[in-house]
Amino acid sequence: MSQKLWGGRFKIGLDEQAKTMSYSLQSDSRLLKYDIQVNMAHAKALCKAGIFTEEELEIVLQALSTILEESSLGNQADGDDEDIHSWVERQLTERCGDLGKRLHTGKSRNDQVVTDARLFQKEALSEIMDALADLIQSLVQISREQLGVPFPGLTHLQTAQPVLLSHHLLAYVEKFSRDLERLEETYKRTDVCPLGGGALAGNNYHLDREFIARELGFDGITQNSMDAVSDRDFMLECLSNGSIIMTHLSRFCEEIVLWSSPLTGFITIGDAFTTGSSIMPQKKNPDIAELIRGKAGRVLGNHIALIHTIKALPLTYNRDLQEDKERLFDTVDTVLECVQLFSKMIRTVVFNRDAIDTAVKKGYSLATELADYLVKKGIPFREAHELTGQIVLLAIERGEGLEELDLSIYQRMDSRIQSDVKDVLTVEAAIAAKSVIGGTSISQVEAQLARYEEKSK
Ligand code: ARG
Repeated sequence: MSQKLWGGRFKIGLDEQAKTMSYSLQSDSRLLKYDIQVNMAHAKALCKAGIFTEEELEIVLQALSTILEESSLGNQADGDDEDIHSWVERQLTERCGDLGKRLHTGKSRNDQVVTDARLFQKEALSEIMDALADLIQSLVQISREQLGVPFPGLTHLQTAQPVLLSHHLLAYVEKFSRDLERLEETYKRTDVCPLGGGALAGNNYHLDREFIARELGFDGITQNSMDAVSDRDFMLECLSNGSIIMTHLSRFCEEIVLWSSPLTGFITIGDAFTTGSSIMPQKKNPDIAELIRGKAGRVLGNHIALIHTIKALPLTYNRDLQEDKERLFDTVDTVLECVQLFSKMIRTVVFNRDAIDTAVKKGYSLATELADYLVKKGIPFREAHELTGQIVLLAIERGEGLEELDLSIYQRMDSRIQSDVKDVLTVEAAIAAKSVIGGTSISQVEAQLARYEEKSK
């Protein structure tokens, strides 16, 4: 039988549909493990405060661990209980009578649910951080393997300047590294224990909050009970971090889709991460990359949904806050799955050098080199830009690349152009010249690689 945690002041029960809307056991039963931990720590604090005797504490702790053990044997939390806190209290009361009913002394579901959520989020953040670190390592390794391979650098999806493929991949390593830093920051702010905040004002029992926090493995305690029960910033940060990670993955997946299209043919994704078509036998579709790109939408949505739920809430706890957990669960599940899968997929990618080389040479990507050459010959950049534009136009009309144009043509355009122009009009020279810190020259990319390799040791 379910047992409501309130009811004394009501004459009739909740409308059936209202009950369906308000009961959350289906989703928050996922917090069972944490709810048991929180109950255990609270029971110990009650004992320290002289509200439970040592013997009573033993009985409660024993019963709580049995409840957890039995649930992990497959008897998941189910029943007609309002939420996971009600479910645990009922189980406990069925096992140890009044002792179960006394455990709620000095705590409220308002401080309890947010303590459970913080414990859950800490674990989830750790998992995502591990997965991200793994992804970063894979990308660094691939960048090392591909060091020296030129790749078409684009702006507006138009040929811009040649870069190193490793430079392109390490650009994502930078993004994912910032994601990792943000998660570490969020972890710190999640690692604060709100238990003791009670319903909103604190509690009357002199419970040792520092002790409870230590028991639960928190780094510190909240300092304002009204903030403690109403705050969901830590969760919004997690959802926002998730959105940024998914935005990065989605951009990368967009490129993977483009690169694996026969229109470019830059890469081949391993069979295990592609699918066929039910009608077109030749197809090898990048579905996993597309799905990850698509799933960014729901993660971005979760963040927007929760921030809108919270934005006009008066202090302190309001039932609206119950909407938080499904958004959190969905985001951490999706982000973890996507990071892990992307990591596995990227390791199966084969780079097709011929297709990449052909593309690097297309699109007059060395035009800026020519302009820079002219600058070195004393022509102001703006003029050099104009002149180079005219030379590119001429080359397009002749159907030739800049490096193929005869020197006499160059000299007709400007007599200051000498035979050494050919030295700068190679992909290798263009890349080598970008030796500024953060540039795409081999030495700079090598230095970045070394920095990452050192970090991951
Ligand atoms: N199921 C609720 C939630 O997730 C727990 C707290 C309920 N508190 C209350 N006063 N009704 O937010």
